Amino acid sequence: MYDYDLLVVGSANADLVIGVERRPGAGETVLGSDLAVHPGGKGANQAAAAARLGARTALLARVGDDGHGRLLLDSQRAAGVDTVGVLVGGAPTGVALIQVDPSGDNSIVVSPGANGRLTPADVRAAGGLFHASRVVSAQLEIPLETVVEVVRSLAPGSRFVLNPSPPLPLPAEVLAACDPLIVNEHEAKVILGGAATGDSPEEWAELLLARGPRSVVVTLGGEGALVASADGVARVPSVKVRAVDTTGAGDAFTAALAWRLGAGEPLAQAAAYAARVGAVTVTREGAQVSFPTAAEVAAL
Ligand code: RIB
Repeated sequence: MYDYDLLVVGSANADLVIGVERRPGAGETVLGSDLAVHPGGKGANQAAAAARLGARTALLARVGDDGHGRLLLDSQRAAGVDTVGVLVGGAPTGVALIQVDPSGDNSIVVSPGANGRLTPADVRAAGGLFHASRVVSAQLEIPLETVVEVVRSLAPGSRFVLNPSPPLPLPAEVLAACDPLIVNEHEAKVILGGAATGDSPEEWAELLLARGPRSVVVTLGGEGALVASADGVARVPSVKVRAVDTTGAGDAFTAALAWRLGAGEPLAQAAAYAARVGAVTVTREGAQVSFPTAAEVAAL
């Protein structure tokens, strides 16, 4: 019935990555490694991760008519993503400046570039992709008004998954469409705004559910994740690995979760699989270049 298991609507960035012994504080200069340029961006990452796992995947995004845009298109095609929805031009391709420390943790600054020009009109013009997709996922490196249009464009019966990163307070219309809303601690607190946020992931999840999403997933890094819906709350254990670079692990988690949910798996089971995908991802450098195949996940 559907041509695509997953349609990702979101950003595509060239990741300019420098390894550092220590991420600098305000006013500080540190020396780092040689510069590496990788295909990234939370939207393009999700699409590449899903396709690498075997999901029939399409990406709706905007890149510049430049070398970074071509790098991203090549990476999507190599992963098996249908790029019919990738628009070219209007501004330079988005860029992410990334520092990675020896623990694998990173700091990221994004210049949205063309991502900021992905408009509600672009979403409306891609109606055929929405009708052909079982699950639609998005993030917040594109304008919020564009994400609102994504929610309005969902075909009857399709499922919407949102990772609100970088986080913003969300309109009720967007929150109500999420199934699930996927957040880390920081994102949960921003979405909950000035309200009492509680001390535990269980409390964050319950407070978020009260805002309208049909389900919530709280990612807890090395502690795994927590899933919450009308069926109850459950912890999903992490998979212990030695992290080299966590860049893109959250995107791979979201993509895997969205794909498995579309395949009919219960939330906790899909999240457990997604945790394994994220675990493989952090053992390798870079974002899209680190995403595993289904066989590599099975071998973990
Ligand atoms: O989530 C990781 C991604 O965040 C990077 O690939 C970078 O492009 C930023 O968008």
